[in-house]
Amino acid sequence: MTPTTVKTAPIPGQKPGTSGLRKKTRVFMEPHYLENFIQSIWNAIGGLSGKTLVLGGDGRYFNDRAAQVILRMAAASGAAKVIVGQGALLSTPAASNLIRQRKTDGGIIMSASHNPGGPDEDFGVKFNMPNGGPAPEDATDRMVKATQEITEYHILEAQDVDLSTLGVSTLGEMQVEVVDPVADYAALMEKLFDFNAIRAMFKAGFTVRFDAMHAITGPYATAILEETLGAAKGSVVNGVPSPDFGGGHPDPNPIWAKDLMDVMMAGSAPDLGAASDGDGDRNMIVGRGCYVGPSDSLAVLAANAHLTPAFSGGLKGVARSMPTSRALDRVAEKRGLDCYETPTGWKFFGNLLDDGRISLCGEESAGTGSDHVREKDGLWAVLLWLNILAVTGKSVQQTMTDHWAEFGRNFYSRHDYEAVDTDRANAMIEALRAKLPKLPGTEILGRTVESADEFAYDDPVDGSRSEGQGLRVSFNGGGRIVYRLSGTGTVGATLRVYIEDASDDPSTFLSETQHALSEMISIADHLAGIAENTGRTAPDVRT
Ligand code: G1P
Ligand code: ZN
Repeated sequence: MTPTTVKTAPIPGQKPGTSGLRKKTRVFMEPHYLENFIQSIWNAIGGLSGKTLVLGGDGRYFNDRAAQVILRMAAASGAAKVIVGQGALLSTPAASNLIRQRKTDGGIIMSASHNPGGPDEDFGVKFNMPNGGPAPEDATDRMVKATQEITEYHILEAQDVDLSTLGVSTLGEMQVEVVDPVADYAALMEKLFDFNAIRAMFKAGFTVRFDAMHAITGPYATAILEETLGAAKGSVVNGVPSPDFGGGHPDPNPIWAKDLMDVMMAGSAPDLGAASDGDGDRNMIVGRGCYVGPSDSLAVLAANAHLTPAFSGGLKGVARSMPTSRALDRVAEKRGLDCYETPTGWKFFGNLLDDGRISLCGEESAGTGSDHVREKDGLWAVLLWLNILAVTGKSVQQTMTDHWAEFGRNFYSRHDYEAVDTDRANAMIEALRAKLPKLPGTEILGRTVESADEFAYDDPVDGSRSEGQGLRVSFNGGGRIVYRLSGTGTVGATLRVYIEDASDDPSTFLSETQHALSEMISIADHLAGIAENTGRTAPDVRT
């Protein structure tokens, strides 16, 4: 088995977005496409000689083939070892954990997260650093540069490695260790949470429905919730990962997890409903008759985390991405915690976690996490909720009602306009950007603008600056609208409009979200001219 060097040329557009390189699967399957990008990662991290990596993915179509290519390329570039999840599977948080536990030089995660999978859907590759977190911008910039300069890649000619059997084998000079994708992760969860308390709650009749959406968390949730914690058999539904996620869209929100929503809104609903996404880093929480928005969930977790072993010493600080609602800020203020505001994407939390400035963080896009790994973690969030409910004995609805009574409520919704013509979307953002300086002090449909700017982030740990992170307009009284273009979409542009309004009036707390936000929604359209500029009269998705 000798490494072959294959001549190649740069392929345009190999630029990692918010979370790795995502493209249509057929694009990834084009000649040299995957190989060019993988070689560019190796080149950007200073080569692979003597290094150890973790490799796994969410099981989507092409996951198995891509894994074999990546292994052959790692072997050809002199890697010492690759630790692979059995069947080339690993959830994103489990991969992050393995990188950390085994102190590897990083890892490759094959996933397009919550995007659908299949030959006509999406595939993706991301590189995580030795701290277990997504590559930061300076590393992804080096990758992009490497993709633009690539002239050749190295690959071993070899048979497929058997990834179905646990144990160590060799590929050329490189070791391949196939590990149980669940075991280390499950052990970590047991350390963080009071499993006895959760077990006792299930024994006393508490019911849960975890919808794995035919994606990677099925095996994790079955092992932990059903087999270890004693939730009734069948509590985990859609628990077998499938290459096209059962034809569904593995994004845990009320639209794509509608089946779960329907069950939870019915009379005989379980006590807690939850779902996770394609690669297991997102979560949705819903109580009986009570959907919990991700921003609210983050705030509730911040307010109650100290009730669980993982955070018994209290939180160091908290962080949220800029477009995430400011419900978290209210908790931080009352509890005297530092609260950081970062750009969208998990990579920005890594430095704050590494530096010990925060212990809990999250995004409005159903991502919540802590310093236990360097990714958001879907099942972890569900376990944290379960642990809190086991301690307080409250229902989800009661938890929310009590939370709003103590902290006030931030109504919040994200409106997405998908596959918008890229030029039109860019023109709209540009026009709005130009308007921002004149907005403060003006009145729009009865609300006065307090501030308006384009968000830029100065990382307090490494001093790096990230610009162009979204346009934000805040109003007197706590309303806010944020506009940004998605960095993960694969067709045209996706315009995200994040709408928030604050209330301290208890008589409003149970209002329906879109209704409570109707004024801000009109302002959002008026301000940016969404209808004229995109030709759309309504968003494709409201979460
Ligand atoms: C989206 C979410 C963002 C999340 C990312 C990866 O990115 O908005 O919060 O970190 O997916 O899961 P976007 O498409 O908005 O760039
Ligand atoms: Zn994901």
